[in-house]
Amino acid sequence: MQQPVRIAPSILSADFATLGAEVRAITEAGADYIHIDIMDGHFVPNLTIGPAVVAALRSHTDKPFDVHLMLSPVDPFIDGFIDAGANIVTVHPESGAHLHRSIQHIKSKGCRAGVALNPGTPAEAVDYVLDAVDLVLVMSVNPGFGGQAFIATMLEKISALRAKIDATGRTIDLEVDGGINAETAPLAIAAGADLLVAGTAAFSGGPEKYADNIARLKGA
Ligand code: DX5
Ligand code: ZN
Repeated sequence: MQQPVRIAPSILSADFATLGAEVRAITEAGADYIHIDIMDGHFVPNLTIGPAVVAALRSHTDKPFDVHLMLSPVDPFIDGFIDAGANIVTVHPESGAHLHRSIQHIKSKGCRAGVALNPGTPAEAVDYVLDAVDLVLVMSVNPGFGGQAFIATMLEKISALRAKIDATGRTIDLEVDGGINAETAPLAIAAGADLLVAGTAAFSGGPEKYADNIARLKGA
């Protein structure tokens, strides 16, 4: 079942010089989850932050930390992010040799687990882990950078995943990440998404605009 739409602002587009204040401001503005993009300069062509920064942000919000790992190999880093306060840890099938084992490990630590699909990765990549995950993330840009254009052919993949999730009868977030703005959000929602990541669209205009930005994405 598609759940009410929630917004997960990606702090990749926040002011990194004042990340704690940014997390507090986006929380007050109505963020549902805080999306944290972890990049290693190898699995994706950009570098971001490690567990120490995530741990430092933990006291600045009570919202779930939705940690999107773009690392390879990913397994050696999972525990560090869980210990730092992640509530959801999402991994890509290509980022380790054993996706099912990575997911089971995340779950064994009492954390929610997600699987993320790059634009070129088919919806079927989730088939044999769907019974174990709490979230499916559809990348609607190639991962690595904020501010890229939404890839429209991902709408078909979102619809296919909506059907797969509904067939399980389980509650699984269907998250879309990349190029979400006031024009593309309604398309993603219509296709079946119920959790929207927004970097540029959430953090544009500075803190006084954040509440409006989030409301617009929710279609208010
Ligand atoms: C891209 C990241 C996204 C990114 C989205 O690799 O996974 O979370 O921050 O940024 P926008 O919303 O600007 O496309
Ligand atoms: Zn992300």
